[in-house]
Amino acid sequence: MEHEIDTALTVNGVEVRRRIPARQNLVDFLRDELGLTGSHVGCEHGVCGACTLRVNGAIVRGCLMLAVQADGCNVETIEGLSDSGELAGLQKAFHARNALQCGFCTPGMLIAARDLQIQNPKATRDEIRAHLSGNYCRCTGYQAIVDAIEEVLNGKG
Ligand code: FES
Ligand code: FES
Repeated sequence: MEHEIDTALTVNGVEVRRRIPARQNLVDFLRDELGLTGSHVGCEHGVCGACTLRVNGAIVRGCLMLAVQADGCNVETIEGLSDSGELAGLQKAFHARNALQCGFCTPGMLIAARDLQIQNPKATRDEIRAHLSGNYCRCTGYQAIVDAIEEVLNGKG
């Protein structure tokens, strides 16, 4: 049987204590054990950004972090960030600009965009593109996504 480790973390403000298999990654733990399926799994090796989460205030790839490494951490997922209203302006702009089609990339895009909004609220279009360079979208061609984020950063969102 796989080695399991006692782990305590906070997920969207709720304390979670579990014995977690040492090799389970964080996004699989959130999806499979906690039912938080808003974080998606695409490439599983740190390239596509579909699994983007916020851990202790910084965005991370949920497929590259082991769940046991989140011991003592504050993990925020798209569910928590949506429920709190923190993403409301970005979500509204994505909707208005048709910045999603299949939606697979959207949770990761929104979390990455929110990170930029916090770090560099006056980001230029080029800086928006650079910040999203680790988040792949196979549907939209990115134009509408950048438009939506630019709108919010310019205070219209
Ligand atoms: S699934 Fe994690 S970066 Fe692609
Ligand atoms: S909307 Fe389909 S991958 Fe981005």
